Amino acid sequence: MTDTGQRGPTAQGRKASAGKEGRKLPRSIAIDGPSASGKSSVGYLVAERLGYLFLDTGATYRALTWLALKRGVQLEDAESLGRLAAQVDMKLGPPAVGSCERCTIWVDGEDATAVLRRTEVEAGVSLVSRVPQVRRAMVAFQRRLAGRRRVVMAGRDIGTVVLPNADLKVYLDASLEERARRRQEQLATLGRASSQNDIGEEILRRDAIDSEREASPLRAAEDAIVINTDGLSQEQVVERVVALAEGRS
Ligand code: DC
Repeated sequence: MTDTGQRGPTAQGRKASAGKEGRKLPRSIAIDGPSASGKSSVGYLVAERLGYLFLDTGATYRALTWLALKRGVQLEDAESLGRLAAQVDMKLGPPAVGSCERCTIWVDGEDATAVLRRTEVEAGVSLVSRVPQVRRAMVAFQRRLAGRRRVVMAGRDIGTVVLPNADLKVYLDASLEERARRRQEQLATLGRASSQNDIGEEILRRDAIDSEREASPLRAAEDAIVINTDGLSQEQVVERVVALAEGRS
């Protein structure tokens, strides 16, 4: 699995990563949190502000789920899923202009970005991502992508497993109502209408699998800074994380 060089620092970003008033900026920033907590959008914007690479690890699990469904692999068949994860050729690149995703992802040569939010992928991804062999392969891939570059990585286990030595760990949380509202807005931009109740139930179902699974369950790292984003705008959350990175708060 390879990386296509997702994000080079912008001029503004390079200036920022030199550090304000000579302060040392973190090499890596881990952003974890439950479904629809805003990790990817916030992480992407923080990376843009600081000139870091952004990696949305949820996309890797979603893309693998899509491939498994396409190949007819049963989502309860942990062994076959593990084999698929070990063999798959994945590539990540910057988002296409106009895309609502925060990256482009290719799976065995095919652009899978447009299928990441399909209903069957949403419904199956928690089953795929709870398989330990799948997690081993994805974590190895994610660490290789991070390499030695400055990176903002978003997911469920970044601060606890993927980058346990991350210099800054943030855990974003929000109430179920707020997360359902945000997901509804996101789906609306894809032309998909759904009631807030149905979305809330789906989020709860995924939260339960993600946090109760044995392998790397969702939880805040002990040294993570928890931000409850209820009542905060996206810009305010981004500003808060950038301020933490720059040592201003
Ligand atoms: O963040 P997301 O909704 O795109 O994540 C999709 C699924 O992938 C989610 O159900 C949990 C899983 N996931 C994970 O287990 N570990 C990660 N680092 C990222 C996502």
